[in-house]
Amino acid sequence: MSLHWHILGAGNLGTLAAFYLRQAGFSMCLAGRPEAPRRLTFPDGRSHDLLLPGDDGAPIRYLILATKAAQSLPALAPLRPRLGTGTTLVRLQNGLGSLDHLPPPHPHIIDAVANSGAWREPLPGGGEHIHLAAENTTLLGDGHSQPPSWFGTLADHWPQLSWRPDIRLQQWLKLSLNAVINPLTALYDCDNGALLADSRLQPRFGALAEEIDALARHLLPEWPGETAARARALAQATAGNTSSMRADVRAGRATEIHYINGYLLRQAEQIGMALPEHQRIVAEILALHRP
Ligand SMILES: NC(=O)c1ccc[n+]([C@@H]2O[C@H](COP(=O)([O-])OP(=O)(O)OC[C@H]3O[C@@H](n4cnc5c(N)ncnc54)[C@H](OP(=O)(O)O)[C@@H]3O)[C@@H](O)[C@H]2O)c1
Repeated sequence: MSLHWHILGAGNLGTLAAFYLRQAGFSMCLAGRPEAPRRLTFPDGRSHDLLLPGDDGAPIRYLILATKAAQSLPALAPLRPRLGTGTTLVRLQNGLGSLDHLPPPHPHIIDAVANSGAWREPLPGGGEHIHLAAENTTLLGDGHSQPPSWFGTLADHWPQLSWRPDIRLQQWLKLSLNAVINPLTALYDCDNGALLADSRLQPRFGALAEEIDALARHLLPEWPGETAARARALAQATAGNTSSMRADVRAGRATEIHYINGYLLRQAEQIGMALPEHQRIVAEILALHRP
C-alpha cells in the first residue's frame, strides 16, 4: 500500500511517527517546514539518523499532527488550502480540545493516546536528537470499530500500536491522570512519586480526582471512576519521573494546562457543573507562565 503522509510538528512524537511510517514503507515529508535532520535514540541504545524531507507543497491527504496542543491551529492555518474533507488527520497529542475551533474544511480526525516518553536536544551541526526514554502503547481511534485499511501495515512496524473503538474513553482515562499528576508536580516542582510521599498534597490530589469522577460520570456512561487510585498507581510506577508540565514550567515554556484541566472546566461549564479545585489549579499554573 503506497500512501504519502505529511508530518506537522517533527519534535519528539512527530519524529517517532516519521520513523515508523518509513519502516512501514510509506513515503512522508514535513508540512510547513524545510528538510530537517533528526537522530532518534531508542531506550535500548539503538540510534537512527533520519533526514526528514521538507514540505512538497502538495495537497495533504494523510497528516500527522504532533505539535504541542496550543500550536495546532496556528500551525494548521497556512495549510488550509491544502486540506480537504478527504484529508485524514491523526492527532498525536496529549490533552483534548486542540481542534475544537478548527475552521472548515474539516478533515477526518483520528485521535491518539500516546504513552511513550521522549525528550529532545539540539543535534551538534544542526537538527534535533530525540531520546525515546520509554516506549509504551500508542492507541488510535475515531469511534469506528474497524481501523482504516492502512492501519494494519503501520501496526506491523510500530510496536504496541493498537486501534481502539473506545478511543474517547481511553483519552479521558489518560486525561484524568494527567489532570491530577501534571499540575500538582508542576506547582510543587516535584517528581511524580513525591505526590504520594508528601501528605500535605493528599487533600488536593483527592479533590482533583473526585471532581474528575463527578464530571466524567455525567459525560461517559462507561466511566469506571477510581481516578484517585489510578493516579496513585501511576505516580508510584513513575515515581522518579518528571511530568511534561513540570518540565515545561521549568523550561519557561507554555504548558498544556488549557487542554488538560482547562478542557475539563469547559466541559463542566457546558453542563453547569463547578470544578473549584481544577479552577484553582489552572489559575495557579497560569500564574507560573504566560500561555
Ligand atoms: N514527549 C513526550 O514524551 C510525549 C508523550 C506523550 C504525549 N506527548 C504529547 O504529544 C504532543 C507533542 O509533544 P512533543 O513532546 O512531541 O512536542 P515537541 O517535541 O515540542 O514537538 C512539537 C514540534 O512541533 C513543531 N512546530 C511548532 N509549530 C509548528 C508550525 N507552525 N509548523 C511546523 N512545526 C511546528 C515544533 O518545532 P519547533 O521546535 O521549531 O518549535 C516541534 O518540532 C503534545 O501534546 C505532548 O503532550 C508527548
